[in-house]
Parts: sequence; structure tokens; C-alpha cells
Amino acid sequence: MSLETKKRSHDVTQPPRQPLAGRTCLVTGASRGIGRGIARELGRYGATVVVNYRSSEAAAHEVADEITNADTEGTGHPVQADVTDRAEIETMREAVDDTFGEIDVLVNNAGINVDRTFENMTAEDWHQVFDVSLHGAFNCTKTFYDDLKAADDGRIINISSVIGKQGNVGQANYAAAKSGLFGFTRSLALELAGTGTTANCIAPGFTETEMVESIPDEVQAELLEEIPVDRFATVEEVAGLVRYLADEQSGYITGEVIDVNGGIDL
Ligand SMILES: NC(=O)c1ccc[n+]([C@@H]2O[C@H](COP(=O)([O-])OP(=O)(O)OC[C@H]3O[C@@H](n4cnc5c(N)ncnc54)[C@H](OP(=O)(O)O)[C@@H]3O)[C@@H](O)[C@H]2O)c1
Repeated sequence: MSLETKKRSHDVTQPPRQPLAGRTCLVTGASRGIGRGIARELGRYGATVVVNYRSSEAAAHEVADEITNADTEGTGHPVQADVTDRAEIETMREAVDDTFGEIDVLVNNAGINVDRTFENMTAEDWHQVFDVSLHGAFNCTKTFYDDLKAADDGRIINISSVIGKQGNVGQANYAAAKSGLFGFTRSLALELAGTGTTANCIAPGFTETEMVESIPDEVQAELLEEIPVDRFATVEEVAGLVRYLADEQSGYITGEVIDVNGGIDL
């Protein structure tokens, strides 16, 4: 049997200085938190990074400037679009396409939580979370699908959560939306298999962002008891995995849900 492969081989003798140079990566919800960390990491490795945001214009410009002004080949470009709005995403696609051409990497990071025990949860709370955290990923993937399918080594990377596996008191809506990303990712991966484009999901545990910093100290202490490494993830630890998946070298990983959760037993 021939072991011929369509994939080009990589020169492993010399580490490329800027492995993502020439790749255009769109990160949704990149004005702060994990999205900002992902955008900065992709830029650090040379990518052209589209820094998507909904309302935090100044913060998104700061992220983009920081990427562009760093001593790398990476450049940052803020683009506003609400991921719940297909028309705005299409406008973003046209703007990106006119300037940089088709994207190579889509990181569906934008997500929100509206926490309430199920007893008190309204249909509005449910739909609000689904609209951003699951339907937002659908909307962006749908809009950029043809571009990503045609790209050399296209990548779809969905940011889910440990809560999608564990569930959590007060987060039935968030847990359901985040576990929805697992099946979505796996199905995309199967449909895209053989095109060179992959789809993967990352499931971070609690990560040092403003959201986690706002949790009361005693609740943080309780959360830490469940985490074997006894600390929360850094944004960089999540971003580093995204950067690897965005690289052409990750082409044999697809359909996976990869945990970044400090060893939580799921
Ligand atoms: N933090 C954690 O511990 C943790 C753990 C596991 C998974 N996650 C997941 O990781 C992702 C990022 O979390 P984070 O803690 O970094 O969140 P965050 O600090 O609250 O930031 C959310 C980002 O999403 C953007 N956003 C919200 N709604 C949007 C919409 N409709 N359209 C476009 N952008 C929108 C925000 O932009 P604007 O500021 O412009 O509104 C912001 O840039 C989420 O999917 C979250 O579920 C987080």
C-alpha cells in the first residue's frame, strides 16, 4: 500500500521564525480576554489578524495596534461585526476580502454567559446565550465556509468550555450552547475531511480574565479545589494551543475537543 500523502512535508531541521506569516486569521470577540490573547499570539507568530469586536472599539484598536507595532511580521486589523447578525458578518467578510483576500483561519471565540438557575432562567436568557455562543459560531462559519474550504490548510477553531462537558449550577444555557459546539465541530471536521481544512474545538477551564477576576474570593477558592494543578489557566496557555492549531503543521488533528483545564477529571 502506498503511503503517499497529499500533505507537503515540513522542514523540521529549521524552526520557521514566523510560521503564520502569510496566513490571515479572524478571531471573533478579540477586544479582550481570551480572544485578545489569541489575536496577540497569532500576530506574534506572523499572522495577519482580523480583530473582531461587537462594541469595544477602542479596546479592539489597541489590540490591533499592539500586534502591528510589535517586532514581528504580524499585523492587526480591527473590524466591527456582531456575530448574531448575518448581514454584519457578510459586510465584515467583504471588507476582509477586499483588503487581504480570503481568510485561512477562523477562530469562533465570541461567547457570553447569562447565569441563573434553571428555575429562574427565562427563554430570553436561554436564547441570548445561544445567539452569541452557538449561533454566532454558525453564522461566522457559514459566511466564511467556502473561503475556508478552498484555503490551503484552512482552520476552524471553536472556543468551547469545560462547562460544556461538566455542566454547572446556574449555567444550563451556557453549558448547552458550549456542548453544542462539540457536535458542530465534529460534523464540520467529517464534512471537510480530505479538503486540507480542519475543524477543532478547545475546551478551556476557568481562565484568568476579567470574568474570573470578578468571582468572589471564597468562590474562587472553591473552584480551585476542583483543579488538580491548583490554579486557573492563563490566557496565553489557551492562545498557545490555538496558535498550534492555526499552523499548517496541525493538519492531522481534526474533529477533536481538546481540554485546557489543569487536569480536571471529566
Ligand atoms: N474566561 C473563562 O474562564 C472561559 C473559560 C472557558 C471558556 N471561555 C470562553 O472563551 C471565550 C472568551 O471568553 P472571555 O472570558 O475572554 O470573554 P470576555 O472577556 O467577556 O470577552 C468576550 C468577547 O466577545 C465579544 N463579544 C461578545 N458578544 C459578541 C457578539 N455578539 N459579537 C461579536 N463579539 C462579541 C466581546 O466584544 P465586545 O467587548 O466588543 O462586546 C469580547 O471581545 C468565550 O466563548 C467563553 O465562553 C471562557
